[in-house]
Amino acid sequence: MAASDPAATRRDDLAGLLGDLERLETIFATWDEVPRSAVEAYRRAIDALHGEALRRLIRTLRTNPAALAAMKEAVADDVVYAVLRHHELIKPSLNERVEAALASVRPMLASHGGDVRLARVAPPAIEVQLTGACDGCAASALTFHAGIKKAVQEVCPEITDIVQVKGLAPDNGVRFVSPFALGQNGTWRPVCVLSEIPEGGIRAMEIGGQRVALFRRDTAVTCFQDACAHLGLAIHDGEVENGIITCPHHGFRYDLTSGECLTAPEVQLQPHAVRVIGDWVEVRLTT
Ligand code: FES
Repeated sequence: MAASDPAATRRDDLAGLLGDLERLETIFATWDEVPRSAVEAYRRAIDALHGEALRRLIRTLRTNPAALAAMKEAVADDVVYAVLRHHELIKPSLNERVEAALASVRPMLASHGGDVRLARVAPPAIEVQLTGACDGCAASALTFHAGIKKAVQEVCPEITDIVQVKGLAPDNGVRFVSPFALGQNGTWRPVCVLSEIPEGGIRAMEIGGQRVALFRRDTAVTCFQDACAHLGLAIHDGEVENGIITCPHHGFRYDLTSGECLTAPEVQLQPHAVRVIGDWVEVRLTT
């Protein structure tokens, strides 16, 4: 019988690789404690070896700016990202940290029949909604301040504003979609009508001498400087899928609702404030 070729069955996609691990873990879970502990110790030893090798590799690459840039590019690959996250060599994204903080208070909320939902992440603010028995409960304000705010701010110090929202915002004809832009002063400029921004897509334009990219999902619009946080190159030609844009130059990925960079969470797109009045989109540039 011919020997099996390992390359013939080798997987290279993240779902397939993780699926193989899950299947093996399911088998190990049925074993007696002694062999199960041996496998677990073996797994930890391999993890420690790989983690240390990756740490040394990153330490060396960091000393070379070109290599550092290439490393950031490599992190856009989902398998590379997953392994580096597993070894805690990449910071969790802001969304991950906020969700983890909310998960830490869920048991407390569940014991009162309630829950919390993350409605929006728009640094430096997030919006959360209490649901179940917590919604409308007289003690919910206390729950909110004592539990949720503390949990989020402990792990996300960059979030300075945590807003409790109730249901959908009333439609008063004016929507401040990006109130997290840095500039609080400045002039609102009408820039286009809503339908001139493609649904789920980007419209690039120049406003007050600045190149910007507007993104629309239904009537919600965000506006960012048309400059990738990697090398500052224009991002508007990048492919957009489900609100995520991939920079056409080296593949950095950004969430277009918040500007958060999914590739290198320590950077983000520079936001400008946007509001929609009737059909008109207005932008206030961040200075
Ligand atoms: S990923 Fe390099 S400029 Fe955008």
